[in-house]
Amino acid sequence: MSLAIVTGSTGLVGSEAVNFFHDKGFDVIGIDNNLRKFFFGKNGSTSWLKTQLLKRNKNFKNYNLDIRNMVGLKKIFKRYSKSISVIIHCAAQPSHDYGKKFPFLDFNVNATGTLNLLELTKKYSPDAPFIFMSTNKVYGDNPNRLNIYEKNTRWELKKSDKDYKGIKENFSIDNATHSFFGVSKTYADLIVQEYGKNVGLKTVCFRGGCITGPNHSGASLHGFLSYLVKASLHQKKYNLIGYKGKQVRDNLHSYDLVNSFWEFYKKPKKGEVYNIGGGRYSNCSIIEALNYVEKISKITIKRKILKTPRVGDHIWYISDTTKLKKHYPKWKQKYNTKKIIEELISNFK
Ligand SMILES: NC(=O)c1ccc[n+]([C@@H]2O[C@H](COP(=O)([O-])OP(=O)(O)OC[C@H]3O[C@@H](n4cnc5c(N)ncnc54)[C@H](O)[C@@H]3O)[C@@H](O)[C@H]2O)c1
Repeated sequence: MSLAIVTGSTGLVGSEAVNFFHDKGFDVIGIDNNLRKFFFGKNGSTSWLKTQLLKRNKNFKNYNLDIRNMVGLKKIFKRYSKSISVIIHCAAQPSHDYGKKFPFLDFNVNATGTLNLLELTKKYSPDAPFIFMSTNKVYGDNPNRLNIYEKNTRWELKKSDKDYKGIKENFSIDNATHSFFGVSKTYADLIVQEYGKNVGLKTVCFRGGCITGPNHSGASLHGFLSYLVKASLHQKKYNLIGYKGKQVRDNLHSYDLVNSFWEFYKKPKKGEVYNIGGGRYSNCSIIEALNYVEKISKITIKRKILKTPRVGDHIWYISDTTKLKKHYPKWKQKYNTKKIIEELISNFK
């Protein structure tokens, strides 16, 4: 029996991983206690998705467990140890603003929770690939120091710029403002690498740009495109926070992301790091996203531009996925930003 452990199983990425690996014939054990509802209120609750997952996947079981609970986690790893063939770690406190307000909670979930899972993998399932969802926030606001210039609807780099294709994995993570969330995730990212390079586990960090898809329980503090579509269509208004709303995000559908997990699972490495996002293939500014939502939905969205940006927020971020594509040439993106927005709108109706 092949068994996948997925933490954050009822969140955006985790739920996609549950469906994907279940469809590949795995039994799937999910670990998620809907802490997202606790973080973001009822809009952020993932219980609707849990119901869907349980209905869709007959070999899926979800434990309502907190990844800070080492005793509870240990029972699961001990029970399934021999069958565990992959661990996909997606549970997190994902918001910058929340992390600053509640630094202990943020650190304990993102950093200590990750360490708990690594130790248990080492003890019970050392051959299983350990796939960790990291974030582009490990680079802090360093990308804001690039030679960015203003265009009509977005900030951009010149085509001749060495970073035009996007941010590479060797970009500095040091000497920047990361946000509290960024720091707890950076610890997790580094310790995941360490368990690969130092302990010999098959670990990987996927440093995500903006990940999105219909499974996102988008809340104002997290889940940019999903929230943007929801708020625009529902309230017909949207606040653009900082940078004149021209900040650029690269958007990757959660399906395309999880497909890269699959490629890694088939040919794992130790202590590897990949930047992953929509890249040049799929990106937009906030204004461009709103314009497209208006065009498709034929709804006029009232925009309010707030001057002060979020601390550590990126002005321009595009992931360079060259390394991932070189190591895993079979990995391909199915969705670009327009297709993602269209799907979000059609799911909203
Ligand atoms: N969504 C993005 O744009 C994005 C971008 C880059 C990186 N990431 C990373 O990808 C991962 C998944 O993100 P997502 O968008 O699916 O987030 P999400 O909030 O949709 O899902 C995370 C899930 O983890 C659960 N969870 C949180 N704390 C927990 C705990 N202590 N114990 C058990 N479960 C807990 C939540 O209830 C939620 O269902 C996170 O690590 C996030 O930092 C996300």
